[in-house]
This record gives sequence, C-alpha cells and structure tokens, in this order.
Amino acid sequence: MTNIWDRIQPKYIKNAKEDHNADFAYENLVNTPSLLCLCDENNDYTLDLGSGDGRFTRRLEVISNHIYAIDYSMKMISAAKNICTKTNFIHSDLEQPFPRFKNKFNLITCKLLLMYINDLDNIAKEVSAIMTDNGALVISVTHPLKWIVDQQKGTIKSQGYKGYLSEVGVKGNIAKEKELELTFLNRTIQTYTNTFTKHGFVLEQVIETGVPDFFVIKYPQYLEFQHKPYRLNMKFIKR
Ligand SMILES: C[S@@+](CC[C@H](N)C(=O)[O-])C[C@H]1O[C@@H](n2cnc3c(N)ncnc32)[C@H](O)[C@@H]1O
Repeated sequence: MTNIWDRIQPKYIKNAKEDHNADFAYENLVNTPSLLCLCDENNDYTLDLGSGDGRFTRRLEVISNHIYAIDYSMKMISAAKNICTKTNFIHSDLEQPFPRFKNKFNLITCKLLLMYINDLDNIAKEVSAIMTDNGALVISVTHPLKWIVDQQKGTIKSQGYKGYLSEVGVKGNIAKEKELELTFLNRTIQTYTNTFTKHGFVLEQVIETGVPDFFVIKYPQYLEFQHKPYRLNMKFIKR
C-alpha cells in the first residue's frame, strides 16, 4: 500500500527536524503541551491514531502502561520506530474497518489526522467500539477559523470554500513546502461534537489553542495568527 504520506515522508521528516521550522516548532512547543493537558496521566491501554513520525506517540509512552499506534504509511512507521521504544505499531488504513484488539482502550488520541479522513462518522463508530466506558478520546485538528485567515492571505486553494461553515477540502502546504501540499477537510465545531456524540461520547473539554506571545517573538511569521485560534483540541468521554 503506497499513499501520499509515503511519498512526502522524506520531505516531512527533513522539515520536522529543523528547529527553525515554525510549523513543527508550533506543534512541539505549543500544541503538544496543550493536548497533553487533556490526557490523564495514568492510562492502562492507549492507542494513537495517525501516529506519523512518532513525536507525539513518544510523549504518550510516558503516561501509558501499554501503547499501540496506527498509521497507513510504512515510511512514517519506520521513522516512528526509531524514537518510540515501547509502542506496538500497526500498519492499517483508518478509512477501513479497524483491526481487532484483545483489549479496549482507556485513551485514544488523534493528533492532526481527522482533516485527512473522509468518513468522520465511520471513524467515530470504530473508535467507540474499541474504548472502555469512561475512556477518553482526545483529538486535535486545524481550527476551522484558521482557514479564514489563510483565505484572506490567499495561501489556500479551494473551489468551494466560502467561510467557516463550508465543509469542503482546502489545499494548503505544510511548512510552506511546495511538495507538502495536502487537502485538509474543513469541519465545524458542531460537526465534530455532533458526530462523536452520536456514537456515545460526551464532550468534556475544549481548548482553542492560539499562538502565544513568546512564540510570535521567536517566529514573527506567526504574527497574523496572534489572538486567533490555531488548533481545535477536544476531549470526549465514552459513556
Ligand atoms: C500530519 S501527520 C500527524 C502525525 C502525528 N499525529 C503528529 O501530530 O505528529 C498525519 C498522519 O496521519 C496518517 N494518516 C492519514 N490518513 C490516514 C489513514 N486513512 N489511515 C491511517 N493513517 C493515516 C499519515 O500517514 C500521517 O502519518
């Protein structure tokens, strides 16, 4: 199975390693701490969906007794294995029925994955089926208001995007790299909330992560996002 993430992996990893790369620095310094605030500190079984090069999975290893991760890019999984020492990696497409697990999970995380998933309803159903009661689902997506800033700047391409309520794909570039152009699905807060609620989840907490002053001082190219939400982080509890 080869996919777009296998193709762009070398360029993605190269950018991710560079300290001066603002997009990856934002994830490391701002968004990851914000998301970890939503995760309990002691989890028996954790599953990280769309684990990429493992930089977030590695942080979850510390708060999990047993940890699994799924990605459909073999190249991403190989990179992740270099930095994750206790994670069990599974190569699987999350648009398909999920692999069978012996145990149910207390914590499932989804960091910067759902914008690439076409069928949100199906993934919510699959996630619900493999969670314990009172288990936590923690997600992080591009904040839907960020696309409005991008639209004003002219840095995204989309035929159908008209504003916040337009649930269409928008094209953008990770780290401003030509080769890292991807389509991101814009979804509203009500769509995320209503879809997970339909499958037995209750919304517990929302963090609309912005761009703090210290980050703008270090990375002035983020000035236009200051005082605006950049990531939408949500914690749902399975009832
Ligand atoms: C932007 S990266 C995020 C990586 C990591 N969660 C992080 O935040 O550092 C998105 C990852 O999701 C994976 N992905 C996208 N669509 C997928 C699918 N249908 N099934 C499994 N993995 C998928 C990609 O291969 C990629 O590694």
